[in-house]
Amino acid sequence: MDSIHIVGGKRLEGAIPISGAKNAALTLLPCALLTDGPLTLTNLPRLADVDTFSHLLNGLGVSTKIEGVRKGEVGRRMTLQAAEIASTVAPYDMVRKMRASIVVLGPMLARAGEATVSLPGGCAIGDRPIDLHLRALEAMGAEIELAAGYVKAVAPKGRLSGGDYSFPMVSVGATENALMAAVLATGRTQLFNAAREPEIVDLCNLLVAMGGRIEGIGSSHLIIDGVEGLNGCTYEVMPDRIEAGSYACAAGITGGSIDLIGARPHDMLAITNALAAAGLMVEFHDRGMKVSADGPLKPLAISTAPYPGFPTDMQAQVMAMLCVAQGESFLEETIFENRYMHVPELRRMGATIDVRGRSAIVHGVGGLTGANVMATDLRASMSLVLAGLAAEGETEVLRVYHLDRGYERLEEKLSAVGATIERRSAG
Ligand code: EPZ
Repeated sequence: MDSIHIVGGKRLEGAIPISGAKNAALTLLPCALLTDGPLTLTNLPRLADVDTFSHLLNGLGVSTKIEGVRKGEVGRRMTLQAAEIASTVAPYDMVRKMRASIVVLGPMLARAGEATVSLPGGCAIGDRPIDLHLRALEAMGAEIELAAGYVKAVAPKGRLSGGDYSFPMVSVGATENALMAAVLATGRTQLFNAAREPEIVDLCNLLVAMGGRIEGIGSSHLIIDGVEGLNGCTYEVMPDRIEAGSYACAAGITGGSIDLIGARPHDMLAITNALAAAGLMVEFHDRGMKVSADGPLKPLAISTAPYPGFPTDMQAQVMAMLCVAQGESFLEETIFENRYMHVPELRRMGATIDVRGRSAIVHGVGGLTGANVMATDLRASMSLVLAGLAAEGETEVLRVYHLDRGYERLEEKLSAVGATIERRSAG
């Protein structure tokens, strides 16, 4: 297994190109199932999860053709086409690699009238149930059966019918499944308390570009009028707001200045507000934003929340940065029940953090020291990299396959702004 080796203590300065958003790509890719026409996605990030998802789609009968990076573009182009659905089963050995695979349920049900998907199971950060996905589909007439570790969904008359569903709690994935099921249902579907993340807006914009009819885009009340069919199109994946926020924390923790090229400020105001409150200078410009340290870091009090609140996917990264702030910070993780696995590893680097249930108090220390640390999940891995960039001495982050799921060319991007960082193969 590869590891990432960092010699810390360098002030990072320069520009980092922001890639297409992983969490947008993973809901745009399954839209190919909704039409027999070709769907071309541009600005696709080179990530393990994108490759895993395209292999899953291949198994369902979707052809995928990757085109190289065109001049002036950052991401890859992929053309997907489901001329016909070859299989309606998403098998365990594919789904277990990436629980986001569950979002093939809605589009497959919409296109083929049935779908069988392995239950994704939990992961390091929590149990990750899918009950809201299933309730939303049942509101559109789907009949759901759970057996032998699989969920089987059937549209009794071969096609879903529009229905209303109010989410008892905000769920990104369940909103995505419901949207992709509703666009081809007969009649109107209304979703209440739907997720409003920018990645959901990206999905709605793609579905409309394919011929879907959706009102309330960006709000928590989505109205979808089903259509007879959808067409392929060409669509650009939005920039990754979590990647951008992660590198902004790299500027903060190293006392540096990083220009995030391609970042979209209006997607990440909760993040930039927090960074500014921590004493960083955030300058929006027409190609993204520049984040610069401007004196010592100030402590923060942050609770994660669904969009437009502070994103849970940024909690571990901001915690790493706050380990060297002047004073005590307070974090509350309200979305996932076990998203503090980076804490024991940060402590091994000299951080002083008290965790009580879903709350954490970070006592800022003068500095961190390098150590061998273990990555446990995607965002925890990034928090360890950030700590390593600031730490005195050498840090080895093990199990970096977690990082490769969500950060494209991490070493290359950080080296370009002055980090001493390299990937080491364990052979
Ligand atoms: C998406 O996961 C993201 N993943 C996650 O990013 C992100 O942390 C999360 O949304 C919240 O923003 C992708 O987009 C691929 P949820 P998702 O359904 O859809 C509970 C990363 O690091 N819930 O909004 O799985 C659930 O347990 C990843 O990039 C139910 O109870 O998240 C959680 O507590 C990690 N029943 C809360 O809702 C359900 O049916 C939010 O989950 C569904 C969810």
